[in-house]
Amino acid sequence: MKVVSTVAELKNAVSQARRDNKTIGLVPTMGALHAGHLSLATAAAEQCDFVVVSIFVNPTQFNNPDDLRTYPRTIDADTALLLHAGTVNLVFAPSVEEVYPEPDTRQFDFGSLGSVMEGAYRPGHFNGVAQVVSRLFDFVGPDKAFFGEKDFQQLAIVRKMTADLGLKIDIVGCPIVRQANGLAISSRNTLLDPEALVNAPQIHAILVLSTTELNTLTPQELIADVSEQINATPTLRLEYFDIVDGRTLQPVSAWSDSDYIVGCITVYAGKVRLIDNITYKK
Ligand code: PAF
Repeated sequence: MKVVSTVAELKNAVSQARRDNKTIGLVPTMGALHAGHLSLATAAAEQCDFVVVSIFVNPTQFNNPDDLRTYPRTIDADTALLLHAGTVNLVFAPSVEEVYPEPDTRQFDFGSLGSVMEGAYRPGHFNGVAQVVSRLFDFVGPDKAFFGEKDFQQLAIVRKMTADLGLKIDIVGCPIVRQANGLAISSRNTLLDPEALVNAPQIHAILVLSTTELNTLTPQELIADVSEQINATPTLRLEYFDIVDGRTLQPVSAWSDSDYIVGCITVYAGKVRLIDNITYKK
């Protein structure tokens, strides 16, 4: 496994792999790697011959400077973990100047996918995600790129951006990886204080319990019920819980509205913002 920090080195290594007729898989990350990222790298290694993992805390997707400042940065541990996993050929860990030699002023239009949920609560976030992901796609030119389903809306946005840019890259969504207690694994979990760490698994537990109520409650009633339970749990505070069509991400008002329905939730556990989701119908 090679670790490079410049676009020139990255392109060199990828060109060599192309000359060797290898298919290229890209796993974009912001580091602070955990089992969720490793599952993406494993999927990439199963489906592609040459796996590139990028590690870059992308400033343009943070709308809160404190969040950017405190985002965990653990490059040495990250590379050690990837080396140990043995699934990755190349790690790209660039500086901000390497990725953005000039400020990126592009504005992406995600239509109605971008205005709901994270798009409403984190203005500019998905524009920053699209800026960095499109640049990584341009640097690497992968056949496939791997993203976690925990960031459900991000996955939909990346698919749309890829299609809108006319790129022939297969966007592969990978299942959420959870701790034994149900908490979705996230780089932000390391920031949870001890009390929040104890209560955060309730997010998934409450969502799982809610799947038993589909015959008795409407989506609106289920939203009210889940919201009440989250807010009744010490240290947890709901930001939003939306029940949406899994493709358009628009809210549904009846379970018969779509054949693919997902509940998407964002909760503050203490000071840490966690997201999760559950599929109600597919
Ligand atoms: O999901 C993430 O970690 C980031 O949003 C991504 C896709 C690596 C872009 O910075």
